[in-house]
Amino acid sequence: MNNFIYKLEEKLKSIIKECGYDTDNVTLVTSSRPDLGEYQYNGVMSLAKAYKKNPNIIATEIVEHLLQDSTFSNVNVAGPGFINLSFSDEALTEYMNEVKDDININKGQLKKKKIIIDYGGPNVAKALHVGHLRSANIGEALKRLAKELGAEVIGDVHLGDWGRPMGLIILELKNRHPEWKYFDEDYNGEYPDDIPITNKDLEEIYPIASTKAKEDDNYLEEARIITYKLQKKERGYYALWKKIVEVSVANIKSLYDKLNVSFELWNGESDSDKYIDDVVNYLKDKGLVCESEGASVVDVKKDDDKVEIPPLILVKSNGSVSYETTDIATIWERMKEYNPDEIWYVVDSRQSLHFEQVFRVCYKSGIVPVNVKLDHMGFGTMNGKDGKPFKTRDGGVMTLSNLIDNVKSEVEKKINNNLDKEEQEKISNTLTCAVLKYADLLPNRSTDYIFDIEKFSDMNGKTGVYLLYSTMRIKSLLDRAKENNYSMNKVTGIYSPYEKDIILKLLEVPSVLDKSFNERTLNYICDYLYELTNTFNSFYASVKILTEEDPIKRESYLSLSGIVFKTNRMLLNILGIDVLERM
Ligand code: ARG
Repeated sequence: MNNFIYKLEEKLKSIIKECGYDTDNVTLVTSSRPDLGEYQYNGVMSLAKAYKKNPNIIATEIVEHLLQDSTFSNVNVAGPGFINLSFSDEALTEYMNEVKDDININKGQLKKKKIIIDYGGPNVAKALHVGHLRSANIGEALKRLAKELGAEVIGDVHLGDWGRPMGLIILELKNRHPEWKYFDEDYNGEYPDDIPITNKDLEEIYPIASTKAKEDDNYLEEARIITYKLQKKERGYYALWKKIVEVSVANIKSLYDKLNVSFELWNGESDSDKYIDDVVNYLKDKGLVCESEGASVVDVKKDDDKVEIPPLILVKSNGSVSYETTDIATIWERMKEYNPDEIWYVVDSRQSLHFEQVFRVCYKSGIVPVNVKLDHMGFGTMNGKDGKPFKTRDGGVMTLSNLIDNVKSEVEKKINNNLDKEEQEKISNTLTCAVLKYADLLPNRSTDYIFDIEKFSDMNGKTGVYLLYSTMRIKSLLDRAKENNYSMNKVTGIYSPYEKDIILKLLEVPSVLDKSFNERTLNYICDYLYELTNTFNSFYASVKILTEEDPIKRESYLSLSGIVFKTNRMLLNILGIDVLERM
């Protein structure tokens, strides 16, 4: 499909060729001097160097050709050879009408790519914390972005359900309820369908068990043995574990629902268990495994390492498999079942060594061929106003569910309470989600940031609330136009500088999507949404749209408003934010 700027870059490239110069890269950038032109081409100076010619002469030659093209309304040379360009109203209007139904002209660009995104990563029976929010938000948005660009994407939640925490919880339950059939080794019958524990119980039990294990070596040893037996699928432990997972996953799902986050796969570390033996044998056959202090390890260091990368522990001395091994076995499974082109891990930056070790083993052993990309997309920490890890008012750990509740009570203050209860609830849920997403996706993925509930819920700031409110206002404008049977089929021309600003902003959509995708960070989309919305709001505040008497102008205003609405909706949808009808 037509990409306005890209097509002009191609045109410019052939003009430069016609003038007798060779160049690979022609890029037009938005102008730093809007008084001289809308876009600029800064490549003349390097041509001048290559051809040992005066840049001004080259620029003038190129400009002569450009002036013959009706796409431009103004072309000039500034300084030593910067070419400034402005686009004609006709060219811009025509382009708007081409993209009026769908501005995402990059749609097919990733058509042949299959990507698995591993994100969320909650741990069974442990309360989700604010770090899990970032993984869920960023992972979900990257997934939607890749889909929007045409890739086939599979999201996998990769539950933490197979490690020591499971052993600890089972041990604590065993101490509290020794009479449960799950703990009776001689019992051969069916286990009960329900277990008398709730998710809340589980979340309380885990910290208690974990503290005990730190203070008491015997307790820790017992938990280790239970973990080992669970991994060997001993009947009672395994049955109890299944129940624990069931209770916990139901809760996890309800939290993700509130965040508009969903997964194609609900697999966990435990699902890789069936491949562990294959993986270990495969690595042994390749001669990559050695014994070290009773454990089986794989050496992964490289000659040019700047920091020391320790060997990866495949099987611990007590026989249990490590977090690394479950990840390798999961990759083994993913290659076998889905054969993806890329696997992305949206996981806290603090786990980068873990992934480095895992990826090295996969490439070194050929489990993953070199043309398949394994990529860890780390992210920074969300902190409280004091710049320290987020805490509740009384100093406790801020769980994700706490945070959602706090944001919700803040946004409820802004809702029109004349609406019926059900609608108020729906609005406050959508706004809560918008606040959490926009605040979390606005900073560059890899930086730490401070989450300030009041600031991020502000109706007039750079917030999800402001964007939703503005987008909804465009929607109601369009609805009113529809009620009046006003036509809005096409952009008929450009009648004010406000429209010109909006159209110039809309030209940036393809590059914003590309940049966000290439750098795997959503901040460009977040910034862009804010800028486009502001540009539109200036138009809305200064131009009478619905009451414009000239039907040709009115049609144009409305059509352009429609394009902005669709653009906002598409971009908000990538971020995981639903557009409301009213609030
Ligand atoms: N459950 C882990 C945690 O909470 C994150 C899992 C990330 N994904 C992975 N494949 N290791 O830290």
